[in-house]
Amino acid sequence: MSQKSIQNELEYTKHVVSERLCYYEPPKNKLQKTFVEELSSSLNQKQKSIHPKFFYDKKGSELFEEICKLPEYYLTRTEINILTQLYEKLPPHLNGDFRLVELGSGSAKKTRIFISILERLQKHVEYFPIDVSNILKDSSKKLRDDYENLRVTGIIDSYESGLNFLKHYDHGNNLIIFLGSSFGNFSYENGLIFLQKINSSMKKSDLFLIGLDLVKDKTVLERAYNDSQDVTAKFNLNVLSRINSELDSDFNIRKFAHHAIYNENQNRVEIYLRSLENQTVNISKADMTLRIKQDELIHTENSCKFTIPKIKEMLSTTGFQIRDIWYDEKQHYCLVLFSKND
Ligand code: TRP
Repeated sequence: MSQKSIQNELEYTKHVVSERLCYYEPPKNKLQKTFVEELSSSLNQKQKSIHPKFFYDKKGSELFEEICKLPEYYLTRTEINILTQLYEKLPPHLNGDFRLVELGSGSAKKTRIFISILERLQKHVEYFPIDVSNILKDSSKKLRDDYENLRVTGIIDSYESGLNFLKHYDHGNNLIIFLGSSFGNFSYENGLIFLQKINSSMKKSDLFLIGLDLVKDKTVLERAYNDSQDVTAKFNLNVLSRINSELDSDFNIRKFAHHAIYNENQNRVEIYLRSLENQTVNISKADMTLRIKQDELIHTENSCKFTIPKIKEMLSTTGFQIRDIWYDEKQHYCLVLFSKND
C-alpha cells in the first residue's frame, strides 16, 4: 500500500509494510546525481577520488561488519563499551518521551542499546532510521520483529533532508544518534556545514548524540586501518569491483593496493588505492577511459580524529551547547551529547 504525503514541499511516498513498519521515499529524481555522474566527475579531477558512500554495497557492508570485529579496529568495540554506560547516564537528560532517530541504518547492536533504554522509560518507542540505502529496509524488519512495542519508520534520503522531513512531521522530541565516527569522514569544512544544517532542522527539545574518534598514537591509528588479515584492504578494493559490475568497467583489482596513512598535521587517517603500474581503465557506462600512473593514488576516504577543544569549538560555532561527554578508560573515543543553544 502506498500513499503520497506532502512534507516540506517535497512529495514523499509512504510505503506501509505492516502495522508497525513503514518507510518514506522521496521522488526518484530527487536523489541528486547518480553513481555514474558523481564518479565520472571525481575520477576526472587531478587528485582522483571515489566517494566513500560507494563502499557500502552488499559485499562492502559485509566486509565493513568484519572490520568492526578486527582486533586492531578498536573504534566499534570502544564505542559499544561507552554506550553501555548510557543505561544510567542518558535517562537524566531525557525530559518526556523521545523517539530514536538514527543517521545511517546502524549496526543492530548499537541501536538496540538505545531502544532498550527508551523502552524502560516510556510506553511506546518509535525508531526512525535515515539512510540513502535500501539496506535500511532489512534492518528495520528485524527490529520490528524483535520488539513488540516498537514502531519503525524509515526515511530513505540524505541525513539532512531526512531530518528536515522529521522537523515537519510532528512535535515529538528527537534523540538523534550519529555513531561510528562517521562524522569524521567529512572534511573539516563540510563537517561544519553539516552541523549547521542539522542545527536548523532541530527543535529546541531535541538531543543529538555523536560518536567521535580521538587523536591518539600514530601506530594505534595506522594499525586500525591496516589490519593483519587484510580485511580493510579487501573492503577498500571492493569499491572497484562494485564499479566494474555496476558501471561496466575493467578495473583489475590485482593492479591496485590499499594504502592508509595517518596525517599528523591534519589529524586524519587518509585512505587511498595505489596503482601498482601504469594502466588504462575503461568505464563503459561513464563513457570514459582513465589513465592511471604507477604509484598514483585514488583517494577513497578521510577519517578525521578529534581533540576535545576542537569538538567544543566546532559545536559552539555551529550553535550548539554540550550537555555531556563520555569516554572509555583510555580516552580513545568519545560520545558527545548536545542540543541547540537557547
Ligand atoms: N567510518 C569508518 C572509519 O572512519 C570507515 C572505515 C573503517 C574505512 N575502515 C576503513 C573506510 C577503511 C575506508 C577504508 O573508521
